[in-house]
Amino acid sequence: MRLASVPFPQTGIHVAIIMDGNGRWALAHTHERSDGHRAGADNVRRIVEAAPGLGIRALTLYAFSRDNWSRPQGEVNNIMALLRAFLESEGERCKREGVRIQVIGSRDKLEYSLVRSIAAAERQTARGTRLDLRIALNYSSRDSILAAARRCLLSNKSEARKVSDFLAGDGRRAGVPDVDLLIRTGGEKRLSDFLLWECAYAELYFTPTLWPDFSPRDLEAAIAEFKHRERRFGNIGKSSTSTQEYWLR
Ligand code: FPP
Repeated sequence: MRLASVPFPQTGIHVAIIMDGNGRWALAHTHERSDGHRAGADNVRRIVEAAPGLGIRALTLYAFSRDNWSRPQGEVNNIMALLRAFLESEGERCKREGVRIQVIGSRDKLEYSLVRSIAAAERQTARGTRLDLRIALNYSSRDSILAAARRCLLSNKSEARKVSDFLAGDGRRAGVPDVDLLIRTGGEKRLSDFLLWECAYAELYFTPTLWPDFSPRDLEAAIAEFKHRERRFGNIGKSSTSTQEYWLR
């Protein structure tokens, strides 16, 4: 089945999370950075499980940026192993629970075994309609905007909306909704080359809580605050939800 043939869920918000603070969590607990990433991966499972019940229909997680390759090789290997383990162990559960997995970012530089696990998890979960779980891996927003712009030029479709349609990573998905709420854990306040185009009108939420400690209850609190924000999209007095507009147009 072609992924592009499956429509996005019709309602709910798109939340994107920069999962920062695994290293500091490890420092405070065991001093092994790998333990921080393992605790971070465990937390991904908790947050994915809670997301549909909180009105989230798309969840994009920043797991590994293009610039993270400069970390020590052992740490890179550790994160890649955790990602592979996640994809291999969660595929069945995600399928059962209607969670569709998609990995965005470039697949060059990834080990073949990981690329195979990605393809298998995407295939296995392709019919899920409760939650779109997008994992950003070897990801750079600037790179993906450039790639989308190139595809637009080749196809003679240059409007902004068409760029959005090409942003899913490798063109297999029929478009990607804008982000409604961007959360960054770990106390820093920056975007770090994550979903720069899709976050044009996202509400930003920064919390000092370190990613492994960021609980479903914390996510619920972030969404509660988001619901109180007035979203005007440059307009006066008009509030609306971009994701739903995207899905309905
Ligand atoms: C940032 O914390 C975290 C990362 C670069 C890796 C994120 C990876 C995971 C949560 C595990 C695997 C993911 C999935 C989807 C199963 P940091 O190491 O920069 O923390 P620090 O700023 O405290 O050092």
